[in-house]
Amino acid sequence: MLLNCKQAAWIVLPALVRAATVTYSVPASVPTSAVALDVAPVGISFEFFTFPSYFLNVTATNQCLANFEALTGVWPPIRIGGTTQDRADYDPATSAYVVYSVASSVDAPASLTFGQSFMSLAATYAGNVVMGLNRGHNNISNTIAAAKVAKAKMSNLRAIELGNEPEYYLSASQPIAVAAGTWTPAVDAASQDDWDIRVGSALSTTKIIQAGNSNTAPPTWGAAELIATENATAQSYVYDYAHHNYPGGTISSLMSHSDIYSNLAVFDADIAAAATTGKDYVLGETNSVSGGGASTVSPLFGAALWTLDYSVMASSKNIKRTYFHHGTIGACYYCFWGRYDMGAPYYGAYVATAFMAGGASISELDTGSTNYAAYVVYDSAGKPLRVLLINSDYYSSGTRGSETFVLTGLGSGASVKSKRLTAASANSRVDQGGNPTFGGQTFANGTCVVGGTETFESTGLSGGVGSFVASASEALLVYLQ
Ligand SMILES: *[C@@H]1O[C@H](CO)[C@@H](O)[C@H](O)[C@H]1NC(C)=O
Ligand SMILES: *[C@@H]1O[C@H](CO)[C@@H](O)[C@H](O)[C@H]1NC(C)=O
Ligand SMILES: *[C@@H]1O[C@H](CO)[C@@H](O)[C@H](O)[C@H]1NC(C)=O
Ligand SMILES: *[C@@H]1O[C@H](CO)[C@@H](O)[C@H](O)[C@H]1NC(C)=O
Repeated sequence: MLLNCKQAAWIVLPALVRAATVTYSVPASVPTSAVALDVAPVGISFEFFTFPSYFLNVTATNQCLANFEALTGVWPPIRIGGTTQDRADYDPATSAYVVYSVASSVDAPASLTFGQSFMSLAATYAGNVVMGLNRGHNNISNTIAAAKVAKAKMSNLRAIELGNEPEYYLSASQPIAVAAGTWTPAVDAASQDDWDIRVGSALSTTKIIQAGNSNTAPPTWGAAELIATENATAQSYVYDYAHHNYPGGTISSLMSHSDIYSNLAVFDADIAAAATTGKDYVLGETNSVSGGGASTVSPLFGAALWTLDYSVMASSKNIKRTYFHHGTIGACYYCFWGRYDMGAPYYGAYVATAFMAGGASISELDTGSTNYAAYVVYDSAGKPLRVLLINSDYYSSGTRGSETFVLTGLGSGASVKSKRLTAASANSRVDQGGNPTFGGQTFANGTCVVGGTETFESTGLSGGVGSFVASASEALLVYLQ
């Protein structure tokens, strides 16, 4: 009835600024449908060739990662890989991290070598690392030699990938596809299974391969298709299954909660297939728009709201970890940080980490059919810990609409506190002066140090019911404990 009235109002007065209400009941204790959380669900992916520069030559990197560690107590997981992992050969003789030449500093190299020091550098990271190695060049002895160095040097090694987005091998003239003569999901799966066994047995280590790593949507390429080809030996070497995802679109479609819901639903069958093996399913490389991002989408505050909603929704669907890709330094619209400026999406990843930090499980309260998201994180005792509310209506200019989220079941307290993620509009860019704030705070360009005074809002409760207002293109993190 109410919905019908709202729809009628929209038809009669299309310019009406939206101010409506949704009501969600927060369970007093964790429902059986809730999904177990990883200790650090929000991770970072670094393009293979540029990983040493991020760690040695971009000041903000360590602090941006440390800010997440301060929230969760665990350094965020990282993955090193991407297109250039399949262009990289291991050279035991070089003392350099990476060796390549490019015409311009914003180009990715067509070929490169890396030395043992690449693995020594990765070993210095205090969090765990997924290392992406080459399959495209079809030289398994080189990949095994690199894998042995990674295994020997990196006590923080979580898993190894054998190839990146293999569906593109034929068009990239990669030797493994050229030698096979044909390259289909089935041919790639047989190759992955064979390499999983040969690399895993060379390392004398089971549960060591992050398998899959395709970008083309399932079911053609994906975990279910791959798992169906694995015998017990091949599967014993798999640590987890990964897929890549770049939703693209316009800023308003990217950030739309219902569009995120549809985009992630594509992975449901693969998540279920991975669960039958008892192994995790992750998004091993993802970000807003492929190829380093789009200037009109990726650096905008709306993409921060996407990063927040997308990573939290992924966790609520049992996608255990989500690795946001960071590409060529100086040519990366979706990057969370760079040499000089912060990127708005960092704020979304920070709030997602703050929301899920220390949580045992998560559930989504809404059904993904509107722009108004509501999630709950539960503690290890099964009690609701925090609620996240997102109004993903796109706001650019003019009068800003709002949505009232009425939450019931909030307990007997007199009030709850919250922190707001906001910016002047969904189009705000940090490098154009449009700094987002979370609880009134910002992250400094160049260093990623948090600044400003942390500010909480307080919302009164009556009989466990509270009303929370989020403007169009805003999110609110509500602390229940
Ligand atoms: C570090 O950054 C500077 C400035 O952009 C650049 O000239 C230099 O080559 C970089 N060094 C490394 C090791 O990436
Ligand atoms: C394959 O890798 C091995 C070990 O690194 C190396 O000796 C050999 O030259 C490589 N083969 C080709 C064709 O590059
Ligand atoms: C498992 O499959 C691999 C190929 O992926 C094959 O070489 C191996 O013999 C199979 N093992 C068993 C026990 O069937
Ligand atoms: C970051 O730098 C941009 C200019 O590139 C500036 O407009 C913005 O205000 C700065 N942000 C912060 C938090 O200082």
